[in-house]
Amino acid sequence: MSSLPRVYVTRKVPPDGLQILRKSGQVQLELWDSDDPVPRRELLKKVKGCDGLLCVLTEKIDAEVLDAAGPTLKVLSTMSVGFDHLSLDELKKRRIRVGYTPEVLTDAVAELTVALLLATSRRLIEAAHEAKTGGWGTWRTQWLCGYELANSTVGILGLGRIGVAIAERLKPFKVKRFIYTDVEPRPELAEMIQAEYVSMDDLARQSDFLAACCALTPETQSICNKNLFSNMKKTSIFINTSRGGVVNQEDLYEALATGEIAGAGLDVTTPEPLPTNHPLFTLKNCVILPHIASASYTTRNAMSALAANNLLAGLRGDRMLKELHL
Ligand code: DGY
Repeated sequence: MSSLPRVYVTRKVPPDGLQILRKSGQVQLELWDSDDPVPRRELLKKVKGCDGLLCVLTEKIDAEVLDAAGPTLKVLSTMSVGFDHLSLDELKKRRIRVGYTPEVLTDAVAELTVALLLATSRRLIEAAHEAKTGGWGTWRTQWLCGYELANSTVGILGLGRIGVAIAERLKPFKVKRFIYTDVEPRPELAEMIQAEYVSMDDLARQSDFLAACCALTPETQSICNKNLFSNMKKTSIFINTSRGGVVNQEDLYEALATGEIAGAGLDVTTPEPLPTNHPLFTLKNCVILPHIASASYTTRNAMSALAANNLLAGLRGDRMLKELHL
């Protein structure tokens, strides 16, 4: 029997990552060779005695999984920038090192955020539907009017690399002002986009477009709620490409249905997938995408390669390229 470290990969990850693991000659690899999530029971069985685990964001890595893995597990590598699916306390307690994949997805996420913002504010999905289903009668002066970026104020909730990348892409649309809020001012990042730090209430009151870009943490859970939406302009557009958990969806539904805000574009929801009979799907002013912000071939390959390299470095006892310091 081989004495190489045992690694379990919970999904058919894009080819670059698998190739790195296979070619390394450093690990014995077992893979859940499917595009669908590994069933929980199978995961609990397969992690037993593993030295390393490479997962994606649909796997909840909690005490149960870590207990099932046992004391051999030294490294966890997630193919995601978000880590709200990981019980960090439990990982820390067991001294398991954790790799993740920031930066390589920033461009793809920012690009999709801009696409979603424009699709929502200029009502593209509604318009394409009308054109296809006979709703297109004649050219009408106010039909399918939306809101434009020129001269607008764009608000960023949670300023990190992704928020900066979104602002950089929006600037050429002649945005007048960028504002942001966070737990504290981020002067270095803000300077890159000439963004002004404001309170949460001012962010809500002043933004024409408000993009949630914050990580999901206990502090940001449901932070986009009635309080935020009721302070926003009736003409404003809310965009979320971070995590569904930062939004109180009942409050968002109310705000959209009663015209408290003009529209919302969501790439993330709670739960995922959002059931097709969910009330948000009944609203014309809500555009919902199935969590595809990082879904370009280049980016997903880069994420899998980084996740693989993090895992291998961790198993060797080397510095990972991107490690979460617990
Ligand atoms: C992440 O990596 O956390 C994104 O949500 C999916 O790419």
